[in-house]
Amino acid sequence: MLALQSPLRAIFSPLESGLDEIFGPDWNPMYHLGALGFFYFWVVAVSGIYVYIFFDTGISEAYASVEYLTHDQWYLGGVMRSLHRYASDGMVAMMMLHMVREFSLDRHRGARWFTWFTGVPILWLVVISGITGYWLVWDTLAQYVATATTEWLDWMPIFGESIARNFLSPELLDDRFFTLMVFLHIAVPLILLLVLWIHLQRVAKPEIFPARGLALGTFGMLLGLSLAWPALSQGPADLARVPAQVGLDWFYLIAYPVVEIWGAGPAWALTFGGSILISVLPWLPPLRQRPIAKVDLANCNGCTRCQVDCPFSAITMVPRSDGRPFEREAEVDPDLCTACGICAGACPTSTPFRRATDMVPGIDLVDRPLHQLRDDVHAAAAKLSGGNRVLVFGCDHGLAKTLATMEGVAPVTLPCIGNLPPSFIDYILSRDLADGVFLSGCGGGDCHARFGLRWTEQRLAGVRDPHLRARVPRERIGQLWATGRSSKELRGIVAEFQSGLPPQPLKAEKPTARVGETV
Ligand code: HEM
Ligand code: SF4
Ligand code: SF4
Repeated sequence: MLALQSPLRAIFSPLESGLDEIFGPDWNPMYHLGALGFFYFWVVAVSGIYVYIFFDTGISEAYASVEYLTHDQWYLGGVMRSLHRYASDGMVAMMMLHMVREFSLDRHRGARWFTWFTGVPILWLVVISGITGYWLVWDTLAQYVATATTEWLDWMPIFGESIARNFLSPELLDDRFFTLMVFLHIAVPLILLLVLWIHLQRVAKPEIFPARGLALGTFGMLLGLSLAWPALSQGPADLARVPAQVGLDWFYLIAYPVVEIWGAGPAWALTFGGSILISVLPWLPPLRQRPIAKVDLANCNGCTRCQVDCPFSAITMVPRSDGRPFEREAEVDPDLCTACGICAGACPTSTPFRRATDMVPGIDLVDRPLHQLRDDVHAAAAKLSGGNRVLVFGCDHGLAKTLATMEGVAPVTLPCIGNLPPSFIDYILSRDLADGVFLSGCGGGDCHARFGLRWTEQRLAGVRDPHLRARVPRERIGQLWATGRSSKELRGIVAEFQSGLPPQPLKAEKPTARVGETV
């Protein structure tokens, strides 16, 4: 899979960092593709309701009613029709980019399989919604779509008699068929909404609305497109003639040339085969899941911070089971936990100032416990000498480890930057283990574990618990959450931070770094 993911990242990374430079992480469309998909869905829904009010269900009336909207009421009805068309296309574009990007970032395996797997029916439902929509206009494109779809469906022996036959002559087609299409065009998007809801069941606090600026910008773009190139029909359908040439919508009707060139059977094989392949990707190969987070009841007071911060809804608060005087305790669902460690970074008991033997937080990673992180910090600090010693924290998905060769710089890696309790920074600086602490993540605004960067920034800014104590000198903390940056760029930025560190006040002899100190 890496052979597929690496080239995809090589395409996505420069695009993401380029857009970062222009829009910043909050408005960078690449970081909010799912939310944009939802936004387009709502634009399609609202514009669709308007168009439906004026739509006449009937073979002879449908085309005329859409023409009325497009030309006689171009300023509103025409704009609504165009918005409906372009937002539908935008939804397909966002969906495909979102899927490919999640795959390239390896965010589809392990406990995340469910979100990926439920994305596959979404692909089908979106495309079916679009195809039924094209049908309703009853222009030459609709006629082409109707005959091609029914011929395609007829290949499968599920319908007793040929449905393509209905489109051979005008006498065979009645208004009931149109009513069925209208029903499908409304029912399928409603089912889509239900499946989208299921899609997000394992994603805590899913981002379903893009930031206001991004939403307004996107809407402005759609509106501009609708005014500049209004969506038009392609002449009325005429069953007495076979449409000679039609302009296809490549977002929705991409399969039709395949049906025409290769025939219905191979087109079905491609569609079903492709869907099955996408469905099983989370197990090709299966992720070797690291051990899940473990609660230590002796240190858990049921404060709920870990539950609130977990990005995958893996923690529930359940009634106390050990008789201690607290109402609740944290419980980890092994099927949902991705072992990101953000919960350990959130727990109030995760402080390195405790004795080595006592450093057992209320919740911690089994294979990468925080007492080991403290040992790693001491080991890294012991390697540093000279002035302006910098400890760099970075996640497994970032570039921090490539800084090991820099003079006066020592990297320490963790599963996610959100695994780092802010008290570690206080500990390092107050114990003079380094002159500066630099934090780096895996991507600008887009964390592999979803919330690691956001929670860390908020903890450092003092707006989220556990927050960094006020006594910690902020000028000794550097941050870079940049995706797409090369190791060279990161080195340059860390070197700049290092040389800009203020001199230590009263820097007497340095104490030797020891494991397991008490406050
Ligand atoms: C229009 C269609 C879709 C919409 C609107 C949509 C929306 C979303 C949203 C809002 C999220 C949560 C993002 C966040 O807050 O971090 C998400 C996550 C995700 N989606 Fe979709 N999605 C769509 C289609 C798909 C498809 C087709 C697939 C793949 C087959 C897919 C795979 C995923 C995965 C794997 C995640 C989880 C990422 C993680 O665990 O961090 N989605 N989607
Ligand atoms: S953050 Fe720590 S103390 Fe609070 S509920 Fe979770 S494990 Fe318990
Ligand atoms: S390790 Fe991550 S996914 Fe697992 S419980 Fe903790 S925060 Fe949630």
